[in-house]
Amino acid sequence: MNSHAASLSPAATESALRTAGLDPARLPRHVGIIMDGNGRWATGRGWERVRGHRLGAEAVRTVTTIAAQLGIVRLTLYAFSSENWSRPQREIDVLMHLLRDFLRNEEATLHANHIRLEAIGQLDRLPTPVLKELNRVRSATADHTRMVLSLAISYGGRDELVDACRRIASRAKAGELDPTAIDASTVQDHLYAPAGGDLDLVIRTAGELRLSNFMPWQSVYAEYVASPALWPDFGEADFVTCLREYQRRERRFGGL
Ligand code: IPE
Ligand code: IPE
Ligand code: MG
Repeated sequence: MNSHAASLSPAATESALRTAGLDPARLPRHVGIIMDGNGRWATGRGWERVRGHRLGAEAVRTVTTIAAQLGIVRLTLYAFSSENWSRPQREIDVLMHLLRDFLRNEEATLHANHIRLEAIGQLDRLPTPVLKELNRVRSATADHTRMVLSLAISYGGRDELVDACRRIASRAKAGELDPTAIDASTVQDHLYAPAGGDLDLVIRTAGELRLSNFMPWQSVYAEYVASPALWPDFGEADFVTCLREYQRRERRFGGL
């Protein structure tokens, strides 16, 4: 057994969880992170905002690796919102470059940790070189089953629901679907990642307390944890703190 396989064994996962003081039986299945505070991290040091984005990419690698090691099944990272297209073009260009570099550089980490890459959002709005790289890494990692890393890029929760409505309506119009039979599972089936399921935990960094259009359908019963850390500073200890906070919550789903 090579070292990667050993570090990914169920026993290794269990021991990583115990070391972190986490209960293996109460781990969130699907975690979403609103990665915020890159700009503030840089401007607070008198630097350009884009330096924060560069460092933010490192934090993505750290958190993704730890999430896989702890046995989280799905990690959705909010990387670029529909509304972020309204930022200055120079900042958008840097973010798109960083995204392409990230996809190129992190493919090895994804393979080593048996992580499948997926993406949600209006991906056709991405520059062609980014989309090509994204599709390449998505197919290169398609057989991995340890964890799914889903990048929300050019993503907006309202756009996702509007896109789902359009597809449902055209299928109804074509006679493929009975409008009176539309239910929550029909909507779920027409989301960008139908198999992704509900979020159990949403973490937002930089101390902000809002969703900013992040997965409203999937987060109706998510536990919400705000971390004061700016995203480039967010590391293993911060992630574990958020998971411990999640494990202290009592989830009721409207019942008693
Ligand atoms: C998060 O950091 C990254 C993206 C939204 C792309 P910000 O760029 O929003 O950083 P702040 O919130 O201005 O500090
Ligand atoms: C949310 O952060 C989007 C991402 C983290 C990608 P923003 O920084 O864009 O959100 P607002 O503008 O503070 O709500
Ligand atoms: Mg922000």
